[in-house]
This record gives sequence, structure tokens and C-alpha cells, in this order.
Amino acid sequence: MESQDSKYIGRVLGLMRICCIGAGYVGGPTMAMIAQKCPNLTVAVVDLNQERIDAWNSDDLPIYEPGLLGVVQEARGRNLFFSTDIDENLKEADVVFISVNTPTKDYGSGAGQAADLRYVESCARRIAEVGGGDKIVVEKSTVPVRTAHMVKEILSESPNGHAYQVVSNPEFLAEGTAMRDLANPDRVLIGGGTDEEGRKAVEQVAGIYRNWIPEESIITTNLWSSELSKLTANAFLAQRISSINAISALCEATGADVDEVARAIGTDSRIGPKFLKSSVGFGGSCFQKDILNLTYLCGHFGLPEVASYWSQVVEMNDYQKERFVGRILDNMFNTVSGKSIAILGYAFKKDTNDVRESPAIAVCQRLLEEKADLRIYDPKVKATSILYSLGWTEEEASGRITFCGDAEEACQGTHAIALLTEWDEFKDIDFDGVFDKMSKPAYFFDGRNLIDPELLRKAGFRAFAIGKE
Ligand code: NAD
Ligand code: UGA
Repeated sequence: MESQDSKYIGRVLGLMRICCIGAGYVGGPTMAMIAQKCPNLTVAVVDLNQERIDAWNSDDLPIYEPGLLGVVQEARGRNLFFSTDIDENLKEADVVFISVNTPTKDYGSGAGQAADLRYVESCARRIAEVGGGDKIVVEKSTVPVRTAHMVKEILSESPNGHAYQVVSNPEFLAEGTAMRDLANPDRVLIGGGTDEEGRKAVEQVAGIYRNWIPEESIITTNLWSSELSKLTANAFLAQRISSINAISALCEATGADVDEVARAIGTDSRIGPKFLKSSVGFGGSCFQKDILNLTYLCGHFGLPEVASYWSQVVEMNDYQKERFVGRILDNMFNTVSGKSIAILGYAFKKDTNDVRESPAIAVCQRLLEEKADLRIYDPKVKATSILYSLGWTEEEASGRITFCGDAEEACQGTHAIALLTEWDEFKDIDFDGVFDKMSKPAYFFDGRNLIDPELLRKAGFRAFAIGKE
């Protein structure tokens, strides 16, 4: 760790010191990027979780993200530090990013919909308690609109007499492409108070990003617009996926091909081609939770029609996952009991080891309920994460779930393959060879439309893709 002397020199030279609370999927990569692009700033990432911090201080990082290790290795120990010493780093900081989790509340009022803000609140309380000087507090976590009000209230009651400014700076990175997104974002959004002090705080945060982001990509708004824009962006993205997935069901019923439809509508410049890939359903820690949160907010503000409009996006997603399982059952003589099914991919998308809300969880849970035995392979997800996500112990899994070292091994001897994550390596599987080692008839259910169904049929499979007959 850095010496007290260098901390002192930083202060004397007026160099900005950043502390980020939360060393997760957002805090880690975001701060690593800031530290790499701004070698004159000192960035400390703090977390309660010792194991996570130890991993950040090793070369076996706690999250898998292409390009992340190189950036961390370049800045770590120079101006990027990971620590569990929260108070000391908070005291020293001029700017504090709150980057903690904001999951869906699973207790009490608003359970199953509202965001659980207890981690954000405890950060605000900690900042208020430790003192150490005036600070800008930046909401990086995704929060309900008007959360900054709560943070401000806590800070303004702080007995230490320091001045605090609260700024909203939501993160738009996607997992798997986080480093690219951070290096070259479509925009950086900064919301703040509209008085002079508020504008100064926004300017200071913008100054960090100006080290590598062009001026025209930095958007400033008031606090509430910034908070709401984050929820709205995720709701719109998820809505596109649910819309194309809704159409996929109609394609299967009519003989249209959802990929052809997506291409045809995506060339309309008003619609655009992105986020029109039909799939087994969207996953990830945020889309569902943020839409539930938006729905809750609409209800809270007396807008039940708006709430029910957005809740359809999540309902359609649940329907898509169940429809995928239904198609497996329908085509395998209405039972998978005692049959063995290979699961290719478990992460919620390729290039990440994150399984939070992965559609694979719902699909595997349903297949296990139907008494299928599963042989699972994912290139980056550990067996322990899979068992945890399913709520199964190792003993319960014994004889029912087998974890395999590669795709070919997973498929061996199975009755069917369900491809649930679009990992590139699955495109290189020798499907002729795989088919030979399976029980016949051999089925292939492609939840990502990754493999050409004609190629699979040529190999001998009964192949089914999303939104195709
Ligand atoms: P995460 O669960 O990976 O990380 C959060 C970290 O905060 C954990 O390591 C936890 O130990 C730590 N923490 C919680 N309370 C703490 C406290 N009081 N003091 C110190 N550490 C504490 O979560 P994440 O995926 O990084 O998401 C963080 C926020 O960013 C969420 O609001 C999420 O909605 C938002 N977001 C996430 C993504 C993404 O791709 N994951 C993208 C954009 C925005
Ligand atoms: C998403 C947003 O894209 C980010 O901008 C946002 O910052 C982030 O949520 C967040 O707030 O957490 P992420 O969930 O990491 O990022 O990944 P996406 O690429 O958006 O994919 C989400 C899910 O939708 C995945 O399961 C993916 O497979 C699925 N998807 C995506 C589709 O099924 N079809 C598509 O066309 C695109």
C-alpha cells in the first residue's frame, strides 16, 4: 500500500483522491479505467468483502471481463488500490463513488419490486460519520429516482460540519464488453444540483471523465433526470428484447423466421439493428430488477397504468423461458424424466462469469423439476456458482447434475442439448462427432440461435431454434 507521505503529498499538490465503495462488477472495472486514464488521480476501491478485495489484489480477479486484468495490472499499486479499510480511505477522499448493490427488496413493504437501498443508505451514513473534509458524493449505483434526496438528508445532518454535494453518475457498461464500454462510452451522464455549488460539483466529476471522453459525449442534467434516465435506458433495452421475443412465438406458429424479421425491421434507421436478437430470455443482475423498480415507482406515484405497461416486459421474459422448456417437453414426447440433457452455457451472456438472473437458472430448475438429469458446461462459470444459483447442495446434485470440462464431454450420452449462452467456442463444436455419441433421436434446442439449424439437421439432429419453425 501507499505510504502516508504520498497521501500527504497528494493533498498538498491538490490532487484529487477518489474512493469507491463497492468492488463489484461496476466498481472494480470503472475505477480501474479511471485510474488507468487519470494517472494523476489516486483511486481507492473499498469493500466489506475481504475475499473480493484479496482477489482484486491478485491476478485471479473476482470477475471475468475481457481486457480487465491488463488495465488493473497497469494501475494497481501506482494509483489504484483495493482495500477493506473503508473509513481511512473515505476520510482521505475528495470524491466518493457509491457503487454498491441495489437488489430487489425481498422483505417487507415493496418486497419483490422495490429496490433495497439499505446498502446505499449505510454508505451515506458511513461517509457522514467518518468526516475528513468536504466531499462530492457520486451515486454510481442504479437507484430509484429521488434517492439523492435521501443521501443529501443524511449528509446534511452530519455532525462533522463538512459540506457535501451529491451527484448522480449512473453506469451504462454491459458485462462482457465493460472495458470497451468504459473506454469509449456512447455518453457519460452526470446529474447534479442546479445551484452554483451543485454545478461546480458536476464540473469536477466531468473533469475526471474529460481525461479520455470527448466533451460532446458528456451529458449533464438535473439529479432526478439522471437517476431516471438510467432506469429508463434499461427498461427500453429490455423492452426491445421482450418485443422481439414476443414476435418469436408468432414466428414459430406461422413459419416466419425471427432472425429474418429482426434484420428486416432493424434496417429501418428509426428502429436500428441492436438488441433485436431473440433468445431464451434476458438475464443479468439489472434488467429485471430495474424494471421491477420502475414499476414500483410508478405505483408509488399513483400511475398504475404505466406500472402495468412496464411490468409486461418482465412477464414476457418469464413466458419466453417457460416457452423454451415447453418446447423441449413437447418435442421429447412430453417427458424428460430420467433423460439426460446437456446444458451448454450457464452465464447470462457470453464473456462473463456472472450468472445473476441467467435464463439458464429458470430453464435448469424446470428441467430438474421434470426429473431430467443435467450435464452442464460453461467455459467461465464455476460449479459452486451454478449450484448456489439453483439452490442445490453438492449432495442433492449428486447423480442429477454433472459438471463437465468441455462441451463434447457434456453432450456425451445425452438425449438432448440445450444451448443457453452464446459462447463463441460453441460454434466450433464438431456436431457430427457429438451426434454419434448421443442417444437417438438426438435433439438440439438452441436458446440463442447460435448454430445454423440446417447444419445440425444434416448432422442428424432434430433441431429447434427460437422463432423458427
Ligand atoms: P456487486 O454485487 O457485484 O458489487 C457490489 C459490492 O458492494 C459488493 O462487493 C458488496 O460487498 C459491496 N458493498 C455493499 N455494501 C457495502 C458497504 N456498505 N460498504 C462496502 N462495500 C459494500 O454489484 P454490481 O454488479 O457492481 O452493481 C453495483 C450497482 O451498479 C448496482 O446498483 C447495479 O444496478 C449497478 N449497475 C450494474 C451493472 C452491471 O453490469 N453489473 C451495470 C450498470 C449499473
Ligand atoms: C445491461 C445494459 O446493456 C447496460 O447498458 C447496463 O449498464 C446494464 O444492463 C446494467 O445496468 O446492469 P448487461 O445486463 O450486462 O447490460 O448485458 P446486456 O448486453 O444488456 O444483456 C442483457 C441480457 O439480454 C443478456 O441475457 C443478453 O443475452 C440478453 N440479450 C441482449 C438478448 O437476449 N438479446 C439481445 O439482442 C441483447
